[in-house]
Amino acid sequence: MSFNKLEKYGIVLNRLTHDKIELLRNWRNDPKIANCMEFRDYITPEMQEIWFRTIDNDRNFYFLVEYDGKEIGIINIRDIDYGQKTGEGGIFIYNDNYKDGVVAVRASLCFYDFCFETLGLNKIIGHILQDNIRSQKFNTAVGYELQPCQEQVLNQLYFLAKDNYLKKRESLIQKKQIQNDKKVEYLAWDTEFFKKKIGRVFVYNIDNLSNILQAAKNDGYQLVYVFGNQDFAVNDKILKQFNGKLVDKKVFFKKNIETAQEPAVFVSEYMSRELTPELEELTYLSGEHSRFKLDENFAKDDFYRMYKVWIENSVKHQMADNVFVVNENNLIKAMLTLKIDHDKGHITLIAVASDTQGKGYGKALIAACENELLGRGIDKLEVPTQIVNEQACRFYEKCGFHIKSINNIYHFWL
Ligand SMILES: CC(C)(COP(=O)(O)OP(=O)(O)OC[C@H]1O[C@@H](n2cnc3c(N)ncnc32)[C@H](O)[C@@H]1OP(=O)(O)O)[C@@H](O)C(=O)NCCC(=O)NCCS
Repeated sequence: MSFNKLEKYGIVLNRLTHDKIELLRNWRNDPKIANCMEFRDYITPEMQEIWFRTIDNDRNFYFLVEYDGKEIGIINIRDIDYGQKTGEGGIFIYNDNYKDGVVAVRASLCFYDFCFETLGLNKIIGHILQDNIRSQKFNTAVGYELQPCQEQVLNQLYFLAKDNYLKKRESLIQKKQIQNDKKVEYLAWDTEFFKKKIGRVFVYNIDNLSNILQAAKNDGYQLVYVFGNQDFAVNDKILKQFNGKLVDKKVFFKKNIETAQEPAVFVSEYMSRELTPELEELTYLSGEHSRFKLDENFAKDDFYRMYKVWIENSVKHQMADNVFVVNENNLIKAMLTLKIDHDKGHITLIAVASDTQGKGYGKALIAACENELLGRGIDKLEVPTQIVNEQACRFYEKCGFHIKSINNIYHFWL
């Protein structure tokens, strides 16, 4: 394997080469760095030579961090055990102009994506001195967790588990306004399903949008979903030039489940793998405000085809872990699909038949879903909806949810 250069999140990581070991030695000997390390002896050129020979192989990856064309620090994984899928991580940013954390986060994301997704590791080990509060804060933000019984240990042991990192990554990208490559990500499923080349991009800086869309157009994309935060407003000129439209203000609600609630009406789990007409109708009702229905550039039946596949795969437990229903006179009158992802539940579809809304069925479904999660030791629940779906928003608030985030979503038909 030869990974000499990694490039992502606006950062470049260059594999450490022999001609750079003196630069690194000088950084490492500087007291501002040495004092953060357990090993603080002065490193001689000879020691550095010997050290380099031990790490210049595929069990160790040391990369110089390059930002804005400047070499500013080092990030590494050493002693990789490919059998156990582990290795020991480390990072320092030497240049004080980049100590605000954003560059270190970019470098970490670029590097840990490589460790977990390319090298296939599952866990990274870290050691942080007990008095290095800054490093502890930084590393826990990325997902490192202090291991038990470390109170008396000077150089404390932390683990970064792959699952934990992947969870933290999305919120770090959003919080730190880091652009993921400024490039459209190809969506294979959507492309295959709608028979046109479709991609998606998260845009944080409106100034980049024209270039991103032009590049996508040149790449043959026919439709691009652009996600931005709630202040992200595309001007008319760009909308016109690239045939774009605001199609959704998507709101994510979240809730911490505290105690189990007995559903006020009987909720059962849908066990069949076949659809009933009522279940299918409820699925379409759940997507009433979906961008795939509201954007008339899609063919009329696209929305129905898509939601049908969704519920078909949900009852087969491919796209949902549980499907809950409320029956009345042997007819399904309400349904909720629940997908579990690590330590969180996601409501993916929910609807109550129009003639039985307001009778507490929705609330009962939420209670059943929460009980299921508590039974699995999970206390977090999320659900997305659209701001225009005021009924659903009020309903979630009544059920104890709070707004987590709002995204503006545009469709550009190139
Ligand atoms: C949203 C929906 C699931 C709610 O189900 P429901 O069975 O009608 O709601 P419930 O009767 O269980 O109501 C639960 C609580 O929410 C409140 N509520 C429900 N709809 C409300 C509304 N439009 N405005 C204010 N409060 C509302 C109820 O008053 C009740 O409060 P209470 O506990 O104080 O009595 C249902 O209306 C629906 O299926 N809508 C269409 C499909 C849809 O939009 N799904 C959401 C997709 S994200």
